[in-house]
Amino acid sequence: MMKWLLLSALALAAQHLGVLSYTVPQGSPGFYHGNSSAAVTFDAHSMFLDNKRLFVFSGEFHPWRAPSGKAIWRDVFEKMKAAGFNTASIYFHWGLSSAKEGGALDFNFFRSHTDLYEVAKEVGILIISRPGPYINAETTAGGFPGWLTNVPALARTNQTGFTNAWMPYIKAVAKFIEPFQYPNGPVIAVQSENEFFQSFPDNPGRAEYMQLIEDTYRANGITKIPITHNDAHPQGAYAGPGLGAVDLYCWDEYPNGFDCSHPTVWGQVDTQLNADHQKIDPDVMWSAAEFQGGSFDPWGGPGYDSCYQLLNEQFANVYYKNNYAAQVTLQSLYMTYGGTNWGNLAEPTVYTSYDYGAPIREDRTLSPKFNEIKLQSHFLHASTDFVLSTMTSADTSLSDKGQVFTTALSSPSGVGFYVVRQNDNAITTRTDFQLKMNTTAGVVTVPQFGGTNSLEGRESKIFVTNYPFGSNKLAYSTAEVMTWTTIDKTDIVVLYALAGHTIEASIPTTAQKVTVSGSTSVTAKVSNGSVVINGSPSGASVITFGSAKVVVFDKATALAWWNPRLAGTGKTPYDVAPDVPSVLVGGPYFVRSATQHGSVLALTGDLNATTTLDVIASSSVKSITWNGKTLSVSKSAFGSIRATLPFGVKAPTVPSLKDATWLCEDSLPEIKDGFDDSSWVTANKTSTPRPQQPTGGKFVLYADEYGFHYGNTIARGHFTGNATGVKLNVQGGFNFGYSVWLNNKFLGSNQGTNANAANGGLDQTNDTWTFNTADVRPGDNVVTVVVDTTGLNEDQGGDDFFKTPRGVRGYQLLGGPDFSVWKIQGNLGGENGPDNTRGPLNEGGLFFERQGAHLPGFPATNWASSKTDSTCSPTVGITTAGIKAYRTTFNLNFPANSDIPIALKFTRTPTSSYRTIIYINGWQFGRFSSKDGPQTLFPLPEGILNHQGENELLVTIWSLDAQGAKIADIGLVNTATIDSGKPPVGAVSSPGFAQLRR
Ligand SMILES: *[C@@H]1O[C@H](CO)[C@@H](O)[C@H](O)[C@H]1NC(C)=O
Repeated sequence: MMKWLLLSALALAAQHLGVLSYTVPQGSPGFYHGNSSAAVTFDAHSMFLDNKRLFVFSGEFHPWRAPSGKAIWRDVFEKMKAAGFNTASIYFHWGLSSAKEGGALDFNFFRSHTDLYEVAKEVGILIISRPGPYINAETTAGGFPGWLTNVPALARTNQTGFTNAWMPYIKAVAKFIEPFQYPNGPVIAVQSENEFFQSFPDNPGRAEYMQLIEDTYRANGITKIPITHNDAHPQGAYAGPGLGAVDLYCWDEYPNGFDCSHPTVWGQVDTQLNADHQKIDPDVMWSAAEFQGGSFDPWGGPGYDSCYQLLNEQFANVYYKNNYAAQVTLQSLYMTYGGTNWGNLAEPTVYTSYDYGAPIREDRTLSPKFNEIKLQSHFLHASTDFVLSTMTSADTSLSDKGQVFTTALSSPSGVGFYVVRQNDNAITTRTDFQLKMNTTAGVVTVPQFGGTNSLEGRESKIFVTNYPFGSNKLAYSTAEVMTWTTIDKTDIVVLYALAGHTIEASIPTTAQKVTVSGSTSVTAKVSNGSVVINGSPSGASVITFGSAKVVVFDKATALAWWNPRLAGTGKTPYDVAPDVPSVLVGGPYFVRSATQHGSVLALTGDLNATTTLDVIASSSVKSITWNGKTLSVSKSAFGSIRATLPFGVKAPTVPSLKDATWLCEDSLPEIKDGFDDSSWVTANKTSTPRPQQPTGGKFVLYADEYGFHYGNTIARGHFTGNATGVKLNVQGGFNFGYSVWLNNKFLGSNQGTNANAANGGLDQTNDTWTFNTADVRPGDNVVTVVVDTTGLNEDQGGDDFFKTPRGVRGYQLLGGPDFSVWKIQGNLGGENGPDNTRGPLNEGGLFFERQGAHLPGFPATNWASSKTDSTCSPTVGITTAGIKAYRTTFNLNFPANSDIPIALKFTRTPTSSYRTIIYINGWQFGRFSSKDGPQTLFPLPEGILNHQGENELLVTIWSLDAQGAKIADIGLVNTATIDSGKPPVGAVSSPGFAQLRR
């Protein structure tokens, strides 16, 4: 420890001399894996790349929840980059790559590691790779393959059966990561397992399994980057020493919880974060592998707009700054882009949308939180002293108001950071206060020259002292720093505060003269060798003196500014340090890139309206292009290069589905007399090794036991004789549903409830269905049970909970002999399904799915048509219990320069129990429950949806009610109209009926 401190001090000394070189000493925690040539190192303060410290500002993204692939991933990464994320944390989903035990692993297309790392490298985003094997992630079986439910070994232990299951997957993953380890590629860390717990005497083999994953990575070429772990809570699991200990311990925090039904109710911020870190691993940087970026929402929940409200820009402001106050230097926001639980990806507590109330919404539009995050990340990257700072005080003593809590931090070179917030998150009104800050001129109480500091309720600010920007320094500032850059030897710092708040900043100078251009709501004067800036920001004021320029924005203005690094100027594509040349760009909805070729500054980006563009760039810039078009420029009052960016996309006309021609067909022939199920799988197992044992009946009817892991399943039990009824225990996950028939006679339906329901949530039901004597025939009778499961359970407890059966868990025929045979049906081919493009999860087992009616090019020639049968429409629906499929086509012809996200919109009738599956061009992109909701808007992402051609849509109505059901209204809507510089996405190439149902 002593040696470590000494070397650390030497490193700091080196920093003072302006030498940014740093080598992590042998024997220190950052010297992991006995590896002196590690490309990624770290110490107690931060991570290093290329011997340069960095704040790892990361966001979680799941490429498999955006299956349009590379073009869309690029758009998400470019947005993240523009918001100051230098890193993306990525879960990979084992189950999507593995349809069958011992079968080929498939890493093509949306499952590709290589594509993902290549796009990240091109955009300049570092990657924390998190392949599992277990990921949780609110996805079916927590990312385990469905077939693993049939492996008798206890999962997430060192039991041989489980090791044999995951080992090929992790070996394959390591082979993909190996060539992309930093600096050859963007991968800076790989995570082992997920929120995993340690072994206990009565629960052995956990740490052994953890160690085995790490050994497998090391043995397969992952030698240049640290292995991390994300503890669910700050409890030190695998922080070391001991078996399974990782190189860099991290933990997860979701401090505002997941109760989106009360979106204005906040808890208090955690003031113990740094103390927890000091207790666990003071020798290494504090890393938040997952910090709350939003919340998931269950079936029947309030919807993602409420989750956004709970975790909005105010939350980001207060809670993330509380992390910085606690000296976090790796922070990953889960989720930053959530995406979609298409194709049976969801586990039972979530529905199709995985919007998560994240900064980038499911339709890839940008939320106010995105821009709040942008201000923070830019500040952290610009404040190179921040990662070395330590806390000097944390209390209410620095302010004259008891409700203002201040965390003061100071760097070894004397830079001060004062994170102020309300002492109590219940305070929602403004507090005016004075603050004592330590400056090189001693302690000063600010503001000194009139006015007061202000904090709104649920606001946090970071004041600075002795803060360098280029060769200049802010003696102090009560306006927050967004960023700084040096252009033409002028150091430009960007400050901001809410309109109506007073700011004060003081900058030592030898200049005699200071000018203010733009808004005069802020004044500046030279006084005693300093420029003192004071006032209330409104629009933009630019204060110029000596070799400095101070730009003061009101916060609303600042939120619309961007600071792209000039393409190709950094030593690496990932570097966002302030010494990388950049420009300041104000106004556009999104600035994607900035490139300077000679005197031309080429900007690309997106607009949501006609926009005034302001650019602060080198005087060598003589003309500006926007998405390739040359702009006519002028000079603004505050000295920027100004132009108008015309909004060039007309509001689209989206085709009406009400007026469309629909083709329709019954999708439950299984209840018709004479239906032949002889080719179905016979449920012949009479025992199961799962911990979840059957609750009755001779045969095990769990769908997974017969290879059907995803989507709807059907069980048909045959009997002969005078039975009087049937008892059924059906299990399908929270909010599951099922219907049951005796021959063609509907017996009824039942449904599960929400995980959060007062009764604790129902994931299974026990029902007794009584037969009418008249309905029982001589000879063969069939009980048909159709089950809508909501996915496989996760496995947080490590107790094989994910093996909980789906389908009929137990049964008993009443008043007669037993069933003679049960037949089971699910997705076509089970674990040998034909669709390698959309993957093993996409399809379920309803008749239309087995038939391939959802696939492009399905010849629906014998289906009824709304042209000749006006009842053939989902808005007319069906008049009995049962399932019907409806098919239509529509064309889109959106211009190339547009980003027009389209969604399918339902009008919900909560009193009607019906369920709908949505397929677009063969991809299952929605499961709608009229009873439960809440989702009524289903994004159909570009790429999966063809924006320049024909699309084939299929929706079903499964009425669980005897009286039938209809969709009150259904239509296509555009959720935004963006004039976009994104490269063309193009329709994803995926096989159709001709290829998949030969
Ligand atoms: C798993 O770990 C336990 C505890 O160390 C050990 O007793 C057991 O032999 C290990 N099993 C295998 C298959 O390695």
